[in-house]
Amino acid sequence: MYINIDDVLGKAIQLHTLDENEILYLLKTKDIKMLLSAADETRRKYVGDEVHLRALIEFSNYCKQNCLYCGLRRDNYHLKRYRIEPREIIESAQKARSYGYKTIVLQSGEDPYYTVEKMTEIISAVKDLDVALTLSIGEKTFEEYKAYRDSGADRYLLRVETTDEALYNKLDPGMSLKNRMRCIEDIEKLGYETGSGIIAGLPGQTLESIAKDILYLKSIPVDMAGIGPFIYHPDTPIKLELYSVSNDTGKKKENIRQKNSKDVFELSLRIMSILRLLMPGINIPATTAMETLDPQGRLTALQSGANVVMPNATETTYRKYYEIYPGKICLGGSPMHCRFCIENKIKSINRFVSTGKGFCRLIK
Ligand code: 5AD
Ligand code: SF4
Ligand code: FES
Repeated sequence: MYINIDDVLGKAIQLHTLDENEILYLLKTKDIKMLLSAADETRRKYVGDEVHLRALIEFSNYCKQNCLYCGLRRDNYHLKRYRIEPREIIESAQKARSYGYKTIVLQSGEDPYYTVEKMTEIISAVKDLDVALTLSIGEKTFEEYKAYRDSGADRYLLRVETTDEALYNKLDPGMSLKNRMRCIEDIEKLGYETGSGIIAGLPGQTLESIAKDILYLKSIPVDMAGIGPFIYHPDTPIKLELYSVSNDTGKKKENIRQKNSKDVFELSLRIMSILRLLMPGINIPATTAMETLDPQGRLTALQSGANVVMPNATETTYRKYYEIYPGKICLGGSPMHCRFCIENKIKSINRFVSTGKGFCRLIK
């Protein structure tokens, strides 16, 4: 059947549903500008011009998992590891609160050092600050998720990464898509605001599988969807086919360039904008990884469907070690610096920082 951009966008704008073929069409369309501006318009109509800030505290870079694409993977012995003690995590949260943040995100690799007891203590103390609290600490049991929720955690982020089972098995050894989806369902059942998402541009990922990822996120339905463009990390076993060595000084880490970064950036924008059209009321972050690939990345994302930014609120000394991928932005900055930097950027595109906690408008 013949389909065209006006019909597909018209349907998405009015009905907020598309089938897999129509999503694929938008993932491939040459009329990307139309797609992005339709998402921008839908964002404005449903969630307005306010931008919600979430203070991100990266409290441990230890991880027991071994995802092939990630710099925090267990077998990356080049990385200096750190853990921030509960008391210092709480102090960081207090500081973020004093800078006006209304949401604190606690993120780490999967680090068993933080037992349920330690985590619930941290959660209760942070919740005493009258903020919304998001956890992003990986796969847990139902009972663990319940304990965190009972202590006051409001939201949980767990990206599905990809719903392509063969790709998942290849890239996430020792993990399973089934368990990942079980986690996301548990999080949803426990009444958290559920955040998920994918990595865009993983080696071996197809547009067909991305169309399925989008439908999966809609089927939950998630309250927040984050898209991270894949960024090659040289201390990981990801195959180098897609990457080139930029000069002849050999394979020194800084000389390896990702050839497809423009395409991956653009693909992420497409996915975000489709998510906005299909789930007009959810929260969509302009991710740090987008700005790593493009100096205007977060602002472009905010103008293509996004309405959330997660500025770094980790103390400067730790930042460079939370190296999920190289070239991460804000490494030299302090929590205060990022807070002011991001507000200025947001104002430069005639948007404003929200004064609320930014709960999702979906009625659950
Ligand atoms: N490039 C981009 N995003 C990555 N993540 C992990 N490795 C990479 C990479 N190389 C993302 C995953 C994970 C989040 C914390 O970081 O989606 O959920
Ligand atoms: Fe650990 Fe998450 Fe990185 Fe996988 S993506 S190695 S679970 S931090
Ligand atoms: Fe961190 Fe701009 S947001 S330096």
